[in-house]
Amino acid sequence: MRWGSMATLILTASSTHALLRFSCSQLAVERLDPLVNPGMAPSPHLHQIVGGNAFNITMDPLEPPPTQASCTTCTFADDFSNYWTAVLYFRARNGSYHRVPQKPNVGFEQANGGMTIYYTPYIGRNSPSQVTAFKPGFRMLIGRQDYRTREEASRFRQLTYTCLQTPMTRTGETLDFPKKPCPAGIMSNVRFPTCWDGKNLDSPDHMSHVAYPESGTFESGGPCPSTHPVKIPQLFYEVIWDTTKFNSREMWPEDGKSQPFVWSQGDSTGFGNHGDYVFGWKDDALQKAMDSNCDSCPQLKSQTISQGNQCTKGVAVHEEIDGWLDAMPGMSPGVEGI
Ligand SMILES: *[C@@H]1O[C@H](CO)[C@@H](O)[C@H](O)[C@H]1NC(C)=O
Ligand SMILES: *[C@@H]1O[C@H](CO)[C@@H](O)[C@H](O)[C@H]1NC(C)=O
Repeated sequence: MRWGSMATLILTASSTHALLRFSCSQLAVERLDPLVNPGMAPSPHLHQIVGGNAFNITMDPLEPPPTQASCTTCTFADDFSNYWTAVLYFRARNGSYHRVPQKPNVGFEQANGGMTIYYTPYIGRNSPSQVTAFKPGFRMLIGRQDYRTREEASRFRQLTYTCLQTPMTRTGETLDFPKKPCPAGIMSNVRFPTCWDGKNLDSPDHMSHVAYPESGTFESGGPCPSTHPVKIPQLFYEVIWDTTKFNSREMWPEDGKSQPFVWSQGDSTGFGNHGDYVFGWKDDALQKAMDSNCDSCPQLKSQTISQGNQCTKGVAVHEEIDGWLDAMPGMSPGVEGI
């Protein structure tokens, strides 16, 4: 499998097939994780979060986001879902850490950081098969924050990095952090599985209720396994880390081999890439969009990027996350995994 050709497929697909692609500005950068660590404030590591402002320490599946949120940072105004990932830090030669800022994607330049979100019903020339949108209370996680080897990470074939030569680079995805400075930043790509067991809105590991296609891939139209027979849209996050002020060779490790970026959970390999999702579209807006195969979906309620930038939530965890730090939030100095 060549990751580059898959990305090209997705880009090509946008012109011929439905593909919901939109911007969600930053809602918060905070040590909270209502999926994996509900009730914990602070949670073990730092996350960056976009979407509806009902994001909180605990999110009750019986009180879905549309009933709790008053605004969203996403440009589809009926999408109160939350989408989050770990945060990238730069480790200097002296052992201090600095948070890597995020920057908006091509076409969404006014956004305050955040991510680009995709929901894709199908890809391929075959006749489209119906996808079932997520149900209220649905949530999932993909990736393992504690994975540190290629063998482990291969379980998640679609959690990757793109070393941006220009903001438009979409080829050469890798499972680990790029080994050389990336002139236009590093894009982390998080693609979720596309088959659901049809019953459970969540599972103890937040992953077993979903699965990858049994053979082939989502992109090649592979069938879902009998244990997870229901096709769901492919949820996909693109997060762009603006590494440009950390790209000079004098700032990189003196050994000339290792790279200086580290995920907020203490992963300097990149194999611990992970993303979290709490579904929160209002009513059946997402199902309708998937059924109608629309690209810009004018029937969906939308708002401008600057309106999305104005959606905020109260801060639950007060701590220093910026400036030069002795340790990343929640971590001990000098500890950052392998
Ligand atoms: C978050 O939860 C706390 C209680 O745990 C509550 O006081 C607060 O209002 C909630 N914040 C938001 C933004 O819903
Ligand atoms: C560590 O290195 C960074 C980058 O060179 C520098 O800005 C910072 O002041 C240094 N911190 C300490 C404590 O020396």
